[in-house]
Amino acid sequence: MITEQDPTKLMKQQVGKAAADRIKSGMIVGLGTGSTTAYMIQFLGERLQSGQLQDIKGIPTSFQSTVLAKKYGVPLTTLDEVDHMDIAIDGADEVDPQKNLIKGGGAAHTREKIVDSLAEQFIVVVDSSKLVENLGSTFLLPVEVIPMAISPVIRAIEKLGGQPELRMGVKKAGPVVTDEGNLVIDVKFDSIDNPAELEKSLNNIPGVLENGLFVGVADLILVGEIKDGQPIVREIS
Ligand code: A5P
Repeated sequence: MITEQDPTKLMKQQVGKAAADRIKSGMIVGLGTGSTTAYMIQFLGERLQSGQLQDIKGIPTSFQSTVLAKKYGVPLTTLDEVDHMDIAIDGADEVDPQKNLIKGGGAAHTREKIVDSLAEQFIVVVDSSKLVENLGSTFLLPVEVIPMAISPVIRAIEKLGGQPELRMGVKKAGPVVTDEGNLVIDVKFDSIDNPAELEKSLNNIPGVLENGLFVGVADLILVGEIKDGQPIVREIS
């Protein structure tokens, strides 16, 4: 049931529901991370509890999605137990007109890229504030780094023209530590003209585990919007 009044939350709820409605019985589903995907996991759980859906297995992309799946009764599995994934549903921090993404606002982009890339269909769920003309214009690019390599990686990113900043915890002293036990550097680039090339250059730096550029991975974007005071869902395919 949708009860939210805040417009951004309303858009996130609507788009989360629209994505959950696309899941069919028997599917293996990649469960993304973030506040938008959280609604999708909730609606998926409701469909399972009502008997509308059966035999779903979820593959979580983070500790957060594992906790939410358990809370809403979505059965979980692992990549070791399955030989394919039907669908993955995940949020994004920015989406460009080519459906390329920046992800990692929740520091989960390494596991998200593994899961989202493996899915036969990867659906992105965002509210309209996430649509941009050029990646990097509203959001810093997250890079997950193995802790002992943090100083050389920072220097290498500066050589690539980025301005790196170690992500610090909120309500926790010290840096953010990822679900994998690593650190995150958020990088400002003046412009990201070639996301595919930058994705590779960053991942080529020894000590970088993964960066938040998702190039050519998304199949469909579901965008929550408010039109004439009502939430609607627009598709970009
Ligand atoms: C997690 O690391 C991110 O990639 C999220 O998927 C992204 O930050 C979107 O989150 P929201 O739906 O909360 O905006």
